[in-house]
Amino acid sequence: MPDILISNEGAVRKIRMNRPDKKNALTLAMYETMAAAIEEANTADGVRCLLIAGAPDVFCAGNDLNDFVTMARSGGLGAPIIRFLHALARSRKPMVAAVSGAAVGVGTTMLLHCDQVIAADTAVLMTPFVSLGLLPEAGSSLIAPRLMGHARAFSLLVMGKPLTAAEAREAGIVNAVVPPAGLDARALDVAREIAALPGESVTAARRLMRGSVEEIVARIDEEAEAFKTRLASPEAQKALAAFLSRKR
Ligand code: COA
Repeated sequence: MPDILISNEGAVRKIRMNRPDKKNALTLAMYETMAAAIEEANTADGVRCLLIAGAPDVFCAGNDLNDFVTMARSGGLGAPIIRFLHALARSRKPMVAAVSGAAVGVGTTMLLHCDQVIAADTAVLMTPFVSLGLLPEAGSSLIAPRLMGHARAFSLLVMGKPLTAAEAREAGIVNAVVPPAGLDARALDVAREIAALPGESVTAARRLMRGSVEEIVARIDEEAEAFKTRLASPEAQKALAAFLSRKR
């Protein structure tokens, strides 16, 4: 089975992360496939809404930490990562996410680009960037404080405090919390509801509500530059080595 499953269900394009043995940790190839699916949807008349989903036990464990080690050595961040983050920021089609289990790092920050987020009550959002010697990415340093205020964004993005599904709803990231068994159906209903609206009007309204795309893209790039420096830092090297050599 491919690590990313893409299917069109009527006017909804489903993008499902599917690397269960590694908790949906994202490889460069996975970023590339997801970016292409989002970009292609921009000009696909038949696609009126995107739905991003993971596995029942985990939404996404973030970037593959082995790749971070390789990137630290090469000094680059990996073009597919930037392509994916730009695709999120530039998407012209509305995006819905269905989150179950852990959403770590970019697993959480990608949600900030979504227009509706449905979470199972098992969902936990966490961004342990700073404890890994890294820093927030995907435009989250700009978008999260806007969404939930600086103090709550600081707890999440800098202090690494996890948010339960209920807390994420309270913080304005999640729309609805549902039992795990009902997650996929509910998220698909929401995506279909959006897809049934007048498409050009949705695009225009969404564009106005999200503010300047170029500002978000510029922040993604600024974060990525700083992220590269942090990846090569002794703090990050030590934290990544500790995760990858942990005994369980
Ligand atoms: N990169 C690479 N491999 C990862 C990974 C990641 N981000 N997250 C999990 N994995 C791998 C584990 O190494 C393990 O591989 P193995 O079976 O070959 O040893 C496998 O996925 C299962 O992970 P495990 O930790 O046993 O699952 P869990 O259910 O106990 O915990 C998580 C799930 C997501 C909470 C935990 O794996 C985790 O914290 N991962 C790291 C998340 C992270 O820091 N991401 C980067 C954020 S910037």
